[in-house]
Amino acid sequence: MDLFEYQARDVFEKHGVPVLGGIVATTAEEARAAAERLGGGTVVVKAQVKTGGRGKAGGVKLAHSPEEAAERAGEILGMDIKGHTVHRVMIAEGAKIAEEYYFSVLLDRSERRYLAMASVEGGVEIEQLAVERPEALAKVAVDPQVGIDAAKAAEIVAEAGFAEDVAGQVADVIQKLWTVYAEEDATLVEVNPLVRTEDGTVIALDGKVTLDANADFRHPDHAELEDAEAADPLEAKAKQHDLNYVKLDGSVGIIGNGAGLVMSTLDVVAYAGEAHGGVKPANFLDIGGGASAEVMAAGLDVILGDPQVKAVFVNVFGGITACDAVANGIVKALEMLGDHATKPLVVRLDGNNVAEGRAILREAGHPLVTLADTMDGGADTAAALAHAADTAA
Ligand SMILES: Nc1ncnc2c1ncn2[C@@H]1O[C@H](COP(=O)(O)OP(=O)(O)OP(=O)(O)O)[C@@H](O)[C@H]1O
Ligand SMILES: [Mg+2]
Repeated sequence: MDLFEYQARDVFEKHGVPVLGGIVATTAEEARAAAERLGGGTVVVKAQVKTGGRGKAGGVKLAHSPEEAAERAGEILGMDIKGHTVHRVMIAEGAKIAEEYYFSVLLDRSERRYLAMASVEGGVEIEQLAVERPEALAKVAVDPQVGIDAAKAAEIVAEAGFAEDVAGQVADVIQKLWTVYAEEDATLVEVNPLVRTEDGTVIALDGKVTLDANADFRHPDHAELEDAEAADPLEAKAKQHDLNYVKLDGSVGIIGNGAGLVMSTLDVVAYAGEAHGGVKPANFLDIGGGASAEVMAAGLDVILGDPQVKAVFVNVFGGITACDAVANGIVKALEMLGDHATKPLVVRLDGNNVAEGRAILREAGHPLVTLADTMDGGADTAAALAHAADTAA
């Protein structure tokens, strides 16, 4: 999960990283009040969107009074920055910047360790600097067992060529940023720019933090950092039921058990769709090992709630949970959903107790359910049904 800048600022502050005052605002009035709370002097109004290049897009503006802060916020709120609508701004205390630096630490999966990067030429497009003048961007490997201790911080600072008068302060800030990275279970902590102000203090002026969702169980407090507005409502619903669901763009809903089977079902449906007007899978949904009626109902509920879905392909391989249990699950799920189940369902069962499973579905004789013998056949039928519904509409 990526954090907004104001959330990164708060996390930095919690771990002792030097930051300036910052207050989030959703209206021009709130922006005025925030600027007053920050002392009524110069502030910077900053668009809070999860994308880079806000400054260039006109989303970072100086304001010399609370009046002006309200005006600038009015201009920035509602603005579109690379497809992201600005719903909030951060009113940040204005810094008198003497120099802009860059620092980041991230997970280097291929090398199985962390990588720290630093430059005394921050503020600009760092990607551009990395390409045009790679020597100006120090890259230092970080051993996961050790992290960034005083010695490692000194090495990074020396590699990047920080001047003596700030080297100590920067090394100290880098160690604190490492604490953020390690204690919050982040996969990225980036500060651009890290600045030296005219009075010689080093401050993190902009922060980008990505948290590792795999570690969420260790951080109950991270749940409130989630951006409820931006989350896809169907994905949010699936999450409530602990379902592994990813929304895609097509019209054939997919339910399967086991990530591998669901992945190959996506491929097979995409392939079958080529013969039926190019229909595509509408989602990834893995209901996991225990395909109970409740889980099946929750899965179907999520998929049927997607207006793009025109037909559903249920592809289940009975293992520990046998096919008859899955079939009963489907029958009960359809009962539970009642009138909410409105789209044709193609079901392919195979594996443990397959004959019993098919018999249960046949006897139930639900008008929306078609049985398929093979995965390819089921994919073809589901694609044909989705295409037919598309052309009928
Ligand atoms: N609190 C502040 N006081 C003074 N100047 C600031 C402040 N915050 C940002 N700036 C100036 O604005 C520039 C851009 O700000 P910032 O880095 O936050 O946005 P950005 O780089 O455009 O956005 P992103 O990092 O999302 O690409 C900074 O390099 C800095 O010069
Ligand atoms: Mg920046």
